[in-house]
Amino acid sequence: MEVIRAKRAGACYGVQRALDMADEVIEGGNRAYTLGPLIHNPQVVADLAARGAEAVGSVDDIAWEAAAEGAVEGVSAAPAVVIRSHGVTPEVLDAVRGRGFAVVDATCPHVSRAQAAAAELAREGCRVIVLGEAGHPEVEGLTAWARQAGGKVDVVAGPDEIPAGLYDPVGVVAQTTQRRENLEAVVGALREAGLDPIVRNTICSATRQRQEAAAELAAGVDAMVVIGGRNSSNTTRLAEVCADACPRTFHIESADELDAAAFAGCKRLGLTAGASTPENQIASVEAFLRTL
Ligand code: F3S
Repeated sequence: MEVIRAKRAGACYGVQRALDMADEVIEGGNRAYTLGPLIHNPQVVADLAARGAEAVGSVDDIAWEAAAEGAVEGVSAAPAVVIRSHGVTPEVLDAVRGRGFAVVDATCPHVSRAQAAAAELAREGCRVIVLGEAGHPEVEGLTAWARQAGGKVDVVAGPDEIPAGLYDPVGVVAQTTQRRENLEAVVGALREAGLDPIVRNTICSATRQRQEAAAELAAGVDAMVVIGGRNSSNTTRLAEVCADACPRTFHIESADELDAAAFAGCKRLGLTAGASTPENQIASVEAFLRTL
């Protein structure tokens, strides 16, 4: 059986960078915390916790004494709080610094750019439209950065949610994982309403590239395996895209979930992984599939 990996698969630049930064802190010996799971991948989060980077709900959940005690002797740095790739609000950042923790800012540079764009539009006097999923931490961050810069902000999931009664200047930023078509639809609807929106295209292409590569591969194979956390929305979406083109699609988190019998009669097998799946997990699944 031939096993083919999608041209683009697995950890995106921002996720890999966050993992590398967390590793560096752990290896440096000072106690580390992440505000929420570092990435949506249970195996990676469990591994980080076992190595000393604990996920906490908020900075208030960290007992300073315990954190300081946990520091390795000879390591002078304060206990570190690693900021996840989708960023945080300025208030959270201030709280972490205010409590004396070292900040390891693993906010993806694409997200930082979106935060800066939201704040800049607000400073220019725009009403800021954030296109994204309400309640998602990245969207909460974008909203907060714009508000801190004095802006009035609306979060919309699509053109239907644009509030009535807007007037220029209006600025638009997007959550980095949004689809380009959705941004175009929102901008189109604003123009139809007679507005002249200032648009900052803050979409990152990593998600789209993975979906396009997966769809192309799924159309030409007998079965597809998609690796990634079940709690990862980008992996779940990737599995849906594959299932549309290839009904024999399996979404798994690790190689132990694979049943050789499920691939009976397969000649060509496709493999892809979500943006929060590190290379070692893909490699171990790929190695197993090659034994079939
Ligand atoms: Fe960054 Fe794009 Fe990944 S915004 S975290 S590189 S999906």
